[in-house]
Amino acid sequence: MAGGPRLVAPSAAWKDSYRAYVSELEARGEEKIPFPLAFPNENFAAFLADLAGCERGIGLPAGFVPHSTFWLVRGREVVGVSNLRHRLNDQLLVEGGHIGYGIRPGARGQGLGREILRLTLVEATRRGMDRVLLTCAKDNAASSAVIARNGGQLGSEAWVEARGQVVQRWWIGASA
Ligand SMILES: CC(C)(COP(=O)(O)OP(=O)(O)OC[C@H]1O[C@@H](n2cnc3c(N)ncnc32)[C@H](O)[C@@H]1OP(=O)(O)O)[C@@H](O)C(=O)NCCC(=O)NCCS
Repeated sequence: MAGGPRLVAPSAAWKDSYRAYVSELEARGEEKIPFPLAFPNENFAAFLADLAGCERGIGLPAGFVPHSTFWLVRGREVVGVSNLRHRLNDQLLVEGGHIGYGIRPGARGQGLGREILRLTLVEATRRGMDRVLLTCAKDNAASSAVIARNGGQLGSEAWVEARGQVVQRWWIGASA
């Protein structure tokens, strides 16, 4: 399985590596970003079915829009996770945006953050989204660098009470 990092749909083929990724986040006490990393996965088949349902808008909590999850894989390892919301709602417009992503702690600082966003933007374009919103805590320098490197234009910054943080809103796309 040589070659550069690529995005794949979640599947049982990556179960052990995915679980190791989640354990790495837990061992560090890190927030699970994007949020599907927090979905229970003890029953992996049920977990995969949950993710597939989210994509089709099935079983979503109130206020959630359909969303797709992708895994960034390199060699035999899952090194990143991204989540693409199919549309915005009032809440995502303030905080959340269209895309969330994270890179496995042990794989950071190698350009993979930039790559997972690039590849997820390709998926967004394939789904007809020509202007994409990303939100990012102002103090998350790595993430704002990833967004800027992918052509992000800073739209606004505002205090978001629910996060207790200043959140930046970035736009990427045709009319950004
Ligand atoms: C944000 C995150 C995805 C970045 O992933 P990464 O693989 O380390 O990023 P890259 O290696 O592609 O680096 C991208 C840029 O960020 C910069 N960067 C990386 N880590 C950094 C840090 N700790 N502080 C400042 N800049 C940093 C790099 O120098 C690079 O900038 P450049 O292109 O100008 O050289 C990763 O830190 C992560 O998973 N964080 C936790 C989840 C999260 O915050 N997700 C984003 C939510 S908005």
